Amino acid sequence: MIKRKGIILAGGTGTRLYPSTLSISKQLMPVYDKPMIYYPLSVLMKAGIREIMIITTPHDQAAFQHLLGDGKAWGIDITWAVQPSPDGLAQALIIAEDFLDGAPSAMILGDNLFFGGEFDTALNAATQSETQNQFGATVFGYHVRNPKAYGVAEINAENKVIAIEEKPEHPKSNYAITGLYLYDGQAPKYAKTIKPSKRGELEITSLNQIYLDRGELNCVLLGEGTSWLDTGTHRSLLRAAEFVHLMEERQGRRICCPEVIAYQQGWISKTDILKLAEPLKKSGYGDYILKIANS
Ligand code: TTP
Repeated sequence: MIKRKGIILAGGTGTRLYPSTLSISKQLMPVYDKPMIYYPLSVLMKAGIREIMIITTPHDQAAFQHLLGDGKAWGIDITWAVQPSPDGLAQALIIAEDFLDGAPSAMILGDNLFFGGEFDTALNAATQSETQNQFGATVFGYHVRNPKAYGVAEINAENKVIAIEEKPEHPKSNYAITGLYLYDGQAPKYAKTIKPSKRGELEITSLNQIYLDRGELNCVLLGEGTSWLDTGTHRSLLRAAEFVHLMEERQGRRICCPEVIAYQQGWISKTDILKLAEPLKKSGYGDYILKIANS
């Protein structure tokens, strides 16, 4: 089975967070106690994905590299790429074509936060399915109050997607398609056939539509055991920070710490993780890592 590779799309302009994002990428802003990009990175790492391409704007790449380097310290292998202008989510598959080299992919948006045992189980089942690795795409639907703001999946009685619509005026369901997509090795080829939409972007909905037309689009509906938050506005960013704070205070565990996931996956040793904790002690983040390493 060819190993699935990861893509994190961390470009964009972040205009809904201006002036906060005038000089820093949205995905480097903190969500409570860690940079935003740690959350999607943790999702990929928990799914066992170690080869990851991170796509940024040209001017933000150095800051991301300063934070994450080549990933070796966390037992992963990061490849860096730039998206010259924010021309749409589906463009990521074209940018990543050589990196993927025919492998299936898991693409996640750099500003999406997923959390929950149900989610981990669902993602692992989907990424480890041999059939899904070989052909087709999988999207994850999440019940939201205001589906108009998202790509929306129309679902039939057998929970199959029958249509997808981008930001519909009259949504046919409350299931938003979240910012995590699994594709087979054909995705770059299909992405190249997409024409820009009215707003000038290569829409991810258009790529998903290709899979739907081929009868190869799976949809996993995430239930109450999953939290999905995006962080694109000041209000949603604050809510996400409050959520992380609440979870961590309540459980006495930090969530989405890549160092801890790398250690739990057996990708780094105890000596390695102790070394990572040392410079982070003053914020409490390092103390938490130490606690895990010594437990
Ligand atoms: P959006 O929130 O749709 O766009 P944005 O981040 O530029 O923000 P705003 O609407 O406030 O201007 O993007 C969702 C995610 O996808 C986010 O993590 C940025 C990323 N993205 C890219 O990397 N390239 C793109 O071309 C687009 C459209 C988004």
